[in-house]
Amino acid sequence: MKKFLFVLACIFTLTACGDSKTNYMVLVNKQSKLPNSWEDTIELVDVYTGLDETYQLEKKTAEAYAKLREDLFKDHIVIELDSTYRTVKRQQEIWDEFEKEKGLEYAKKYVAVPGTSEHHTGLALDVKIVKEGKIIDDNDDMTAEKEIFDKIHAKLAEYGFILRYPVGKEDITGYGAEVWHFRYIDSPEIAKEIMDNGLTFEEYLKNN
Ligand code: DAL
Ligand code: ZN
Repeated sequence: MKKFLFVLACIFTLTACGDSKTNYMVLVNKQSKLPNSWEDTIELVDVYTGLDETYQLEKKTAEAYAKLREDLFKDHIVIELDSTYRTVKRQQEIWDEFEKEKGLEYAKKYVAVPGTSEHHTGLALDVKIVKEGKIIDDNDDMTAEKEIFDKIHAKLAEYGFILRYPVGKEDITGYGAEVWHFRYIDSPEIAKEIMDNGLTFEEYLKNN
């Protein structure tokens, strides 16, 4: 019903709906959980990958990701989606899987408590890479591909993305470094300021 009224409002006001209500600068972390009724403020779209998988992302995030992927492809770097929008239920499943397979301490370091994951926003995504025809999606294996990920990170800001959990900032973000987790903030200028200065999203928001 809410969605129906939203669409009607869009038709009458002739506004570009889908992203006008979205707060692209929303902070979701261990201290700041997902805002109530967040899903009413985003438009999720399906994204079909080069590996024949389908994921869901917020609309502008999906568009920006497609451009980033294409740009990297020209440099012979292949990224594919590995995890995108997650419901709270899905986050719980991931938490349970990690806790069972790697233990509680690992889960706390790399997986958000359900309700506090940036993946609930539809603005965050994890990638995997394809190198010489082989998929690299294991956390440690991706971290070891520093040269490739440095090149990927250098292009994030141009498309409005930031690296959300950088190396050496674990005390601020609350999570171990994740070279694969990118966050869309819809502003290449702010993304550039964050990336050029090696800031976390928390540090930027505190000072702005
Ligand atoms: N891996 C990040 C912290 C998450 O679970 O949202
Ligand atoms: Zn992630």
